[in-house]
Amino acid sequence: MRLALSRRRCKMAQWGMGTDKPARSNPRIAVYPGTFDPITNGHGDLVARAAPLFDKVIVAVAKSSGKTPRFELAERVELARAALADVSNVDVRGFDTLLARFMTECGAGVILRGLRAVSDFEYEFQLASMNRHLIPQAETLFLTPAEEWSFISSSLVREIASLGGDVSNFVHPAVQKALRRHRRKPGGRAGSAVPRKSSR
Ligand code: COA
Repeated sequence: MRLALSRRRCKMAQWGMGTDKPARSNPRIAVYPGTFDPITNGHGDLVARAAPLFDKVIVAVAKSSGKTPRFELAERVELARAALADVSNVDVRGFDTLLARFMTECGAGVILRGLRAVSDFEYEFQLASMNRHLIPQAETLFLTPAEEWSFISSSLVREIASLGGDVSNFVHPAVQKALRRHRRKPGGRAGSAVPRKSSR
């Protein structure tokens, strides 16, 4: 009796999120979550590296209301689609739920994240460990971007653009255009230039 109970608990843990049905998770489908406010060439580099490794890479744009993003969710999704249009097995979707729930809905088995520097590690380790509790059937995999993108962040790009600097080397032309449009908007917010990975 006790054995049966613990087997059942174990199964539930494997399924995750207290559901009574096994969640099917496909290790050939990866979800790359982030705020993408906006998407940069660093993100693009990571997607290009991941695309040949999986059948499908879903770029999951989080609403991230807590971060008060500069761009609305729909615009961030649109910009990511424009920036990644050349990568064939990539799908861009917005989400406003727990990542674990989004993963289950997509049937994805891999959470993809980028590590740019050692300073990224602590936050990423915490996120990966928490996601392991929430969705034990998924694994987090880390890729590193090319060195030339290791210093980029969305907030730095936003700040440079808002002060009239040239960001053409860091973002897709569609993103550059959108940043220009926002700069001209009365009351357009400038993002903080302080590298945010530690506060992410
Ligand atoms: N190239 C360039 N920049 C990169 C990068 C790369 N390869 N990888 C990360 N960055 C930058 C981003 O531009 C961003 O910069 P900014 O903070 O200056 O704007 C910063 O690193 C943060 O990256 P991001 O991927 O956007 O992290 P995040 O902390 O906003 O995303 C989520 C975290 C969305 C994955 C997480 O909050 C989440 O899962 N949310 C859904 C709700 C949920 O499930 N919460 C519980 C999680 S356990």
